[in-house]
Amino acid sequence: MSNELKELIREITEVYGPTGREERIADFIEKRISPYVDEIRRDAMGNLICTKKGTSGKRVMLSAHMDQIGLIVTDIDEKGFLRFAPVGGINPAITACREVVFENGVRGVTYYEQKTVTDGKPTLAQMFIDIGCDSREKAEGHVSIGDICTYAPHFVDMGNRVACGALDDRICCAILIEAMKDMKSPHEICVCFTTQEEVGLRGATAAAYSIAPDFSINMDVTMSADTPECMPLPMKMGEGATIKYMDRSAVFTKPVIDFMRKVANDNGIKTQNEILKAGGTDSGAIQSARGGVASGCVSIVTRYIHSPVEMADLDDCAEAVRFVRALAESEELPLS
Ligand code: CO
Ligand code: ZN
Repeated sequence: MSNELKELIREITEVYGPTGREERIADFIEKRISPYVDEIRRDAMGNLICTKKGTSGKRVMLSAHMDQIGLIVTDIDEKGFLRFAPVGGINPAITACREVVFENGVRGVTYYEQKTVTDGKPTLAQMFIDIGCDSREKAEGHVSIGDICTYAPHFVDMGNRVACGALDDRICCAILIEAMKDMKSPHEICVCFTTQEEVGLRGATAAAYSIAPDFSINMDVTMSADTPECMPLPMKMGEGATIKYMDRSAVFTKPVIDFMRKVANDNGIKTQNEILKAGGTDSGAIQSARGGVASGCVSIVTRYIHSPVEMADLDDCAEAVRFVRALAESEELPLS
């Protein structure tokens, strides 16, 4: 199963799908999940909502975001260089000297103004994309203003650990597909692959309203705190799926945390505690939807988030598959 999941992670991270341009990744996921669900629909924001019928009268929402961070073209100059703005949390420190790729397959590289950057630390405004064209006319034959590119995908296979771009949050999309293969829940399961998480949980906000779940588990990546000189936080790669207590978008309630702990204990699932000091996830939007939703969050501890070399551990992924399935299959749900 580990090799199958690794192959799915490789394929799913190579599909183009920055924020607001998720059609292609939605098509990919739809193909992979369709054998395991009864109905699939998309809403106006591009959310992919896959439903497996249940008999309990309760609805459980499982979610992960499909979008990845990107760069949107804002200007094309007379020499054919592109200027860009960030779509999501782009880190300037790692954005120069990258290979980038557009939806139509056009490739380019990023660099910065030689004269204005004196300290070796270019800002995004000082950077440009070179797509190998020597005039505006030629460049406009390949790329238009408003096109969005991503860091070019490159999969690094280190055995039990893998590194590549877009693990945030495609790794959790892969885990949810895997979890649905064997899902035997009394509840209706709504698996939602959301859009536009990276710019403020926008797809999930719309999807949580229309799905109206009784209980929800969101999945995303979270920071690791196990590399040299890093922050003192409890998350370590290889220590299992997380039970999240808090991030910048949500504080998880005691009934939900207690429920998640009990399910992990009853099923012998390896979990670790998570408190994320920076960043939020879709669970923040889902928890406060409608009249409030009992919501939890399970994360995959990931190194180097929002870089082209995000790294995760496949044992953590396997635990997360078992955990999310056990949570969704539990007859008793918190607060419902
Ligand atoms: Co992210
Ligand atoms: Zn994410």
